[in-house]
Amino acid sequence: MCGIVGYTGPREAYPIVITGLKRLEYRGYDSTGVALLNGGLKVYKKKGRVADLEENVLGKDLHSNIGIGHTRWATHGEPSDRNAHPHTSGSGKLAMIHNGIIENYAQIKKELLNKGYHFTSDTDTEVLLNFIEDINKNNECNLEEAVRIALKRITGAYCILLIDEDDPETIIAARKGSPLVIGVGKGEHFLGSDASPMLEYTKEVVYVNDYELAIVRPDELILKNLGNEKVTPFVTKLDMELAAIEKGGYDHFMLKEIFEQPSTILDCLRGRLDANAGTITMSGVQKNIEALKSAHRIIIVACGTSWHAGLVAEYIIEELCRIPVEVEYASEFRYRNPVINKGDIIIAVSQSGETADTLVAIEKAKEQGAVIFGIVNAVGSSIARISDGGAYTHAGPEIGVASTKAFTGQLVVLTMMALKIAKEKGSISDERYRHLLQELADVPEKVAALLKNADDLKIIAEKYKDASDALFLGRGYNFPIALEGALKLKEISYIHAEGYPAAEMKHGPIALVTETLPVVFVATKDSYHEKIVSNIQEIKARKGKVIAIVSEGDEVIPGLADDVFFVPPADELVAPILSCVPLQLLSYYMGIVRGVDVDKPRNLAKSVTVE
Ligand code: F6R
Repeated sequence: MCGIVGYTGPREAYPIVITGLKRLEYRGYDSTGVALLNGGLKVYKKKGRVADLEENVLGKDLHSNIGIGHTRWATHGEPSDRNAHPHTSGSGKLAMIHNGIIENYAQIKKELLNKGYHFTSDTDTEVLLNFIEDINKNNECNLEEAVRIALKRITGAYCILLIDEDDPETIIAARKGSPLVIGVGKGEHFLGSDASPMLEYTKEVVYVNDYELAIVRPDELILKNLGNEKVTPFVTKLDMELAAIEKGGYDHFMLKEIFEQPSTILDCLRGRLDANAGTITMSGVQKNIEALKSAHRIIIVACGTSWHAGLVAEYIIEELCRIPVEVEYASEFRYRNPVINKGDIIIAVSQSGETADTLVAIEKAKEQGAVIFGIVNAVGSSIARISDGGAYTHAGPEIGVASTKAFTGQLVVLTMMALKIAKEKGSISDERYRHLLQELADVPEKVAALLKNADDLKIIAEKYKDASDALFLGRGYNFPIALEGALKLKEISYIHAEGYPAAEMKHGPIALVTETLPVVFVATKDSYHEKIVSNIQEIKARKGKVIAIVSEGDEVIPGLADDVFFVPPADELVAPILSCVPLQLLSYYMGIVRGVDVDKPRNLAKSVTVE
């Protein structure tokens, strides 16, 4: 959600900024803009894609050794050229880009209007910028000091980059609640919402913390807190190559990421799970094992797909560890004054590690003394950094807006974590523990095997492409997978879809069943098999169309269903990691036949950094 890029150094800034913005396109946006300094401030901005801006600036003089660029996801004011960033101050000397929301902007705007300021956009960003300029003019302080004073007065979230015509080598940057990474080069610096815009230039990065302000010049990086005290920048070495953020021959990032799963799951298991030795090595879990073993309750907070991973984990942790688990939408948890007792553990699950609701939820829980575990994909992200312990999913950068490989990574990490706690606690038999370790170790190969039949799902997608609605049903460990299948189909094909526990269908959704309604059953071989067969029969009796995801060797469901996709047999506890993959492919192919931009579906953002 909103992408931010900046550069100051000896190179031409425009191509670096534009390429960087393209790399951040996955975050979701509706307009684009850049500001350059070349004998004065030059601002170019346009509603639409980065490519639209590029077309718009053809033939313009873009020479500049400093630049800031932005992709905007509208919050205050419709997507338009006028509301796109960068915004310029009343004097025309300052330009600023901003990711986040200034909550008290209306009050500040009123004060500025009374002082005679005019605004050309509907944004909170233009208000903040003029507020900074006003302080700069009236308080006889320099710009850096004015930024600091302004930031102390505002409430909300921000990552800002600001340039000044009178100081043509400096970018002032600050963050609270929205990510900011600074790449350290030789005589140059790069800024980004994540590290992808700077990958080919430097592997040395500084993750800026909340309430920090950076003064960035070609050969100088000064980091301060809002109290004007210097902070030593902590330089981290990036472990990411450019190839990881490119399409690698696939038509879409989403397809590439679905097909990467055998290797991302292997990466997630690597160095942690040893099925032969019967061990799971997870240092973040080990460090807190006593707290985990004796936890009175585990509360999982997350949003969207990550919340579905939390639901699967609820079933697994309760089954293996006998610890009560609650799974909460972070957006609800953060506002509803939840009861957090001593001995409760909070697990935050997040691909991006920047989701505003999840981040604030765990900050609040932390204030109440809870121990926080982060299951995060993006290394160095905010959630990873504020957690007391946790584990990375190691799925690599996920660019497609729909979460796929990060989801299977979350399932693998949460399952390993449950197994480790259960083993330490003694709540699992040795035989079951060993069996499940082997089952997990076999997952990459099984996912690779089912992906070989991906074309079968293309045919199914073609057959049902005109559906206006769909139902997804599952039981037990596969119930959250039904929810996830419905979410994927909604976001990628724009077909309205609902997920339910299969037995719950009789309490309402069955009224929707007609000859044209596709009903997707996630029905791999497990202890609920006979029950779900009855549910399929109930749909068939009402002439609904059944698409079933079943285990190889199933002799019953293929005889009942209209369309079947087979996945390799697996223990029911591990089966969700397999059964979710055909649903990812089904929504991908549905999106393609329906002409959706699957990597960037409408209205969606990859990283939801506003609440
Ligand atoms: C759906 C999807 C979203 C995210 C949600 C949370 O495909 O990607 O529902 O799962 O926005 O994001 P993270 O996991 O980054 O906290």
